[in-house]
Amino acid sequence: MAVLIAQDLAPRSPTLAVAAVRREAEILLRLRGVVDRELSLLLTSDDRIAELNRTWRNKPGPTNVLAFPMADEAGQGGPAMLGDVIISLDTAAREAAAEHITLHQRVTVLLIHGLVHLLGYDHERSEPEQVLMEDEEQRLLSALHREKRRGKMVRLAVNVDHVATLRQARGGAEPDPVQAAGICELAGAVGIVVHLREDRRHMQDRDVILLRQTVKTKLNLEMAASAEIIAIALKLKPDMVTMVPEKRQELTTEGGLNVAGQKKKLASVVARMTKAGIPVSMFVDPDPRQIRAAGEIGATFVEIHTGRYCDAKTTAEREREFDLVAQAATTAFEAGLRVNAGHGLDYLNTAPVAALGAIEELSIGHAIMARAILVGLDQAVREMLALLPR
Ligand code: PXP
Repeated sequence: MAVLIAQDLAPRSPTLAVAAVRREAEILLRLRGVVDRELSLLLTSDDRIAELNRTWRNKPGPTNVLAFPMADEAGQGGPAMLGDVIISLDTAAREAAAEHITLHQRVTVLLIHGLVHLLGYDHERSEPEQVLMEDEEQRLLSALHREKRRGKMVRLAVNVDHVATLRQARGGAEPDPVQAAGICELAGAVGIVVHLREDRRHMQDRDVILLRQTVKTKLNLEMAASAEIIAIALKLKPDMVTMVPEKRQELTTEGGLNVAGQKKKLASVVARMTKAGIPVSMFVDPDPRQIRAAGEIGATFVEIHTGRYCDAKTTAEREREFDLVAQAATTAFEAGLRVNAGHGLDYLNTAPVAALGAIEELSIGHAIMARAILVGLDQAVREMLALLPR
């Protein structure tokens, strides 16, 4: 199995990490059991693909992807060729911008489309064939995501808001969430999460500015879609933002964000963050409608709200809520979203959620800070890490 990648781009064409595309192409060939054939992939410009489109298909203008199967020809002494897939990065980049996804994500979809053509599917032949082809494309995309995640461990990001809650109780300078973040990182957390609320009840502007300068792993800023906080986030440039609902009266974030009910507003936030290079997560209830909406507006991640699972009063209720979290994680993952989870997780209820393969990262705050008061922050983080599968 070999993937030959050539590039023939115009000076202003966008560029792509070719090694990542090659790895995906190899996984896709393996998933289809095509291990003894060669795939040739040309990443090119609109001008070049327009030329090929005219010459070979008698069609005017550029297109996003062309596929030319070569079913019977053997390579010279090497493996038989499967065929050529040609992708215009110019068109792919325009389509990615319209869909609020990355160029890489769009190229993956086009690569799968081309590959499925090479394998004999053709959506232009009939409607039933179109359905068959789309099903196969979706199946391969899901399988690719699953394969890329295989063997990866779930990680821990620690929310340090409640260090600031304690400080604000006296309005002084101690304890300092910035120092706490450093201890969490030294203990093994791979991310620090903070929520800069509009009412500034715990985190202050000074905190997020200092955290941006000092966090060495990844700073995830939880935020409401308010003009003031959006402006701060764009200036601060955290490593990612998580959009959450915010009500002044609530004790903590109570429910997931209603993404489906405010797609237009949130799509514009995602577009602004994406333009600034900040990936966006949507904190949603384990509800397929909300997850679909998050994908449709171009979010990179969803964070699945585990609150109802954690607060369940009976075993039956807990099992029901856990199933919803598990299904939501799979749905999101198979839709190509990256999946985090959090809210209410503690030392007793985290392990089953951590074992769900689709989830990359858990965001945990209150339980760790509560334990830290008794055993120290370093130990509280390490004890939580010890509960995660390795
Ligand atoms: N994820 C989100 C989006 C949150 O708002 C919170 C609470 O700030 C958490 C995770 C962490 O929840 P907990 O403090 O209950 O661990």
